[in-house]
Amino acid sequence: MGDRLTGKRALVTGAASGIGAACARRCADEGATVAGLDLIAKPSGSVCSAWVQADVADEAAVAAAVAEATDSLGAIDLLVNAAGVLSVGGADTLEVAEWERVLGVNLKGTWLVSKHVVPQMVAAGSGSIVNLASVEGLEGFSGQTAYNVSKGGVVLLTRNMAADFGPAGVRVNCLCPGLIETPMTSILEDPAFAPVRDAFVDWHLLGRAGQPEEVAAAALFLASDDASFVHGAALVVDGGLTAGRRFPDLSA
Ligand SMILES: NC(=O)c1ccc[n+]([C@@H]2O[C@H](COP(=O)([O-])OP(=O)(O)OC[C@H]3O[C@@H](n4cnc5c(N)ncnc54)[C@H](O)[C@@H]3O)[C@@H](O)[C@H]2O)c1
Repeated sequence: MGDRLTGKRALVTGAASGIGAACARRCADEGATVAGLDLIAKPSGSVCSAWVQADVADEAAVAAAVAEATDSLGAIDLLVNAAGVLSVGGADTLEVAEWERVLGVNLKGTWLVSKHVVPQMVAAGSGSIVNLASVEGLEGFSGQTAYNVSKGGVVLLTRNMAADFGPAGVRVNCLCPGLIETPMTSILEDPAFAPVRDAFVDWHLLGRAGQPEEVAAAALFLASDDASFVHGAALVVDGGLTAGRRFPDLSA
């Protein structure tokens, strides 16, 4: 498709599915060599030339996986942290185990993979990290306590890493997607969830949900030299969800 990442080596977490898989494809399409890291085995048809199976919430497993990916590819230039899990439950009903599972994967996992990749980038004096946060890390959404807190944490983790590693030439940004049609959100296709899906889609000023490739296009921008002065940003990819609200049309 292009050559914006020619010669780069990318590590993409959550590369087996949805947004992570789309980011891996886009990185490869733009000339990067890509290693996928996921809890599950490499799916057939994956573009990743290296694959490591690990739980991002387990530091020993992450350290071994990053070492294995580096052995296969060489030093990592680009990291996309897309591994994540969804969760429902309000602050009054949420169980501690669920809080720890979701914060463990979404927030601690993003930190741990970054922790083990960033020394290579600092040593190289360059690198780009793109974290998957969410619009749900910017605003409150009912019944989503652990997920939203984890994503709000990813936004601040991004800004903190930007402060830590910017002077070393390592850029760190995050994406805040709205509703994207992936296996994670396929539960909303169940007729029982139709009212939730309809309301959610309606909040997007473009009037539709997004596709994983539309998030991958934004990830490519942040990862590439086109974003050479973009650092510590939380870029919404949300069809206008966080831009404002529409009143009902009364013109008729
Ligand atoms: N789909 C959306 O509407 C949406 C919106 C905003 C943000 N996001 C975020 O984007 C990222 C990707 O979401 P998606 O919709 O593609 O989800 P998905 O469920 O399709 O893919 C998530 C991937 O992460 C992997 N994963 C889960 N737990 C893991 C773990 N402990 N260690 C390693 N890998 C693990 C899964 O195996 C899967 O391949 C997530 O962080 C999600 O929170 C998604």
